[in-house]
Amino acid sequence: MLTKIENLSEYFLAYEKSIANPETFWERVANQFFWRKKWDRVVDYDFEKAEVKWFENAKLNITENMLERHLYTIGDKPAIIWEPNDPKEAGITLTYQQLFEKVCEFSNVLLNNGVKKGDRVIIYMPMIPEAAIAMMACARVGAVHSVVFAGFSSSALADRIINCEAKVVLTSDGNFRGAKSIPVKAVVDEALEKCTTIEKVIVVERTKTEVTMQAGRDLWWHEETAKAEKTHKAEVMDSEDMLFILYTSGSTGQPKGVVHTTGGYMVYTQFSFQNVFQYNSDDVYWCTADVGWITGHSYIVYGPLLAGATTVMFEGVPTYPDAGRFWEIIDKYQVNQFYTAPTAIRALQAYGLDPVLPYKLDSLKVLGSVGEPINEEAWHWYHDHIGKGKCPIVDTWWQTETGGIMISPLAGLTPTKPAYATLPLPGIRPVIVDAEGNELKGNGVEGNLCINFPWPSMIRTTYGDHQRCIDTYFSTYKGMYFTGDGVRRDEDGYYRIMGRVDDVINVSGHRMGTAEVENAINEHPLVVESAVVGYPHDIKGQGIYAYVICDAEGRTEGSLKEEIKATVNKIIGPIAKPDKIQLVTGLPKTRSGKIMRRILRKVAENDTSSLGDTSTLLNPEVVEEIIKGAQ
Ligand code: PRX
Repeated sequence: MLTKIENLSEYFLAYEKSIANPETFWERVANQFFWRKKWDRVVDYDFEKAEVKWFENAKLNITENMLERHLYTIGDKPAIIWEPNDPKEAGITLTYQQLFEKVCEFSNVLLNNGVKKGDRVIIYMPMIPEAAIAMMACARVGAVHSVVFAGFSSSALADRIINCEAKVVLTSDGNFRGAKSIPVKAVVDEALEKCTTIEKVIVVERTKTEVTMQAGRDLWWHEETAKAEKTHKAEVMDSEDMLFILYTSGSTGQPKGVVHTTGGYMVYTQFSFQNVFQYNSDDVYWCTADVGWITGHSYIVYGPLLAGATTVMFEGVPTYPDAGRFWEIIDKYQVNQFYTAPTAIRALQAYGLDPVLPYKLDSLKVLGSVGEPINEEAWHWYHDHIGKGKCPIVDTWWQTETGGIMISPLAGLTPTKPAYATLPLPGIRPVIVDAEGNELKGNGVEGNLCINFPWPSMIRTTYGDHQRCIDTYFSTYKGMYFTGDGVRRDEDGYYRIMGRVDDVINVSGHRMGTAEVENAINEHPLVVESAVVGYPHDIKGQGIYAYVICDAEGRTEGSLKEEIKATVNKIIGPIAKPDKIQLVTGLPKTRSGKIMRRILRKVAENDTSSLGDTSTLLNPEVVEEIIKGAQ
């Protein structure tokens, strides 16, 4: 592989070259792909306008690079190994050749159902091979996919469908999750009551749950594929054509649709996958994320398949049928690279070593972590008991907006340090700024993390609202992309991510806007006002703490809290349900009416020793009440 970095000095050299001459660097990486037409210019950008173009005027189809490009050399190699929820059910292995045929077949299904280049297609599916096939088929016909995590409620799904004016929904009858079977199609039906743009719903039969099929709108996946032609010629796309939209939470308003385009995303996801995980051609790689999140997009589907890797896809949960499931799967498929989230590690650590001991885990070479800061205790447990002290841990920092891993060790090459994401990948230029936007140079500094030069897989816009993209990412600090994270660069120049500096909380690696949760709570008819903050949680990293003013109307405190949780569950989904609710008579406000979240955070963290001066508040008396009633 031309652009695989193989030792630490090669990394430093590659980094230096990528900074000194980004165009030459990325051109060299891009040359290993199959382009219908090459670019006129490698990169062009204007951060003030949030305009970024990579591989301008180049033509390609990303799926030709994931499928056709590999067929002659590794057509018989497993591309996807699918492990079902129930270990007694047989798994499925699709070779590159078989995956190619399935993607072609489903591309024809999309065309037969009126999907055209540029149309938006929603994928609301469990972790089954069809989800990956659906994503690739969309990309192949030039449609823009938007995967919505199947744990989101009908109302959250409807918001996303409406925002991107989707034409088709791809879904399943149900979803096996541990001992439960969750209706999925029924959630889609409920969402569609509010949507006017959906013409077709194509349903995979997975759980055999009874579903209602609306004539003229709803179709079965297996019936449509049976009718479809088996060959398909990929649509020729421009490098900057939209590949997908993925909704993510911010500090204000509704989730925004982060837009990624084709050429740059392709180049960067393969490059980062190969280098961070140091994937070798016969390795088996497994990322436990869900395809509903960016990690599933870039490092279950696109990155690994572009690199010709074998990628494992798991339908179930880490604790079913018992807390040894992950380790059993690693032994079963002889997984070499394993990529998961700190919250999963902490949850499994809580079961002790008994579930780990029956397994050898000797195939493992690399362990990965993503989604939130990994605490030292979890890092050591992962390193000692899963990696048996011999596997480097790649603590990968990145975001939905960055499309790919930005700061991370290269496995086995970069010396690691617990809880440090270490060094930037080639092409990535992190800068640390203080609150005024002054760059903090040198080592031993802490501040806000920005990136001051474009990279190929970066966000291009927020769907339907470019101004929001400018305001959110490019306005806080002039001429820079602002990540929303705090960071420390230590004496060795290593980066340690300190967590969000905005009103975003990270619950079990899921990003949540406090405003979004507040809006959901406020939908309860008796709620007058609410304020949500994060607090440290042993397993989830952060938990959701809600302060709520409401009119009890004869209800008990317990039943009110349950109703509030149910409201959030209905509006967003179970992942946003508050862990703690405190009913209050007022919220601490400044004289201009702004909620003093700092105080609420301190109380939630059970640290009331340093609340600062509260006398300037509009209502200082509520602080005492809030402290007394803290959960
Ligand atoms: O705060 C950072 C945290 O997750 C945020 C991005 O969330 P999302 O867009 O959902 O993407 C998650 C998967 C890439 C970041 O702003 N985060 C992500 N990875 C790490 C992290 N925090 C610390 N260390 C990490 N390795």
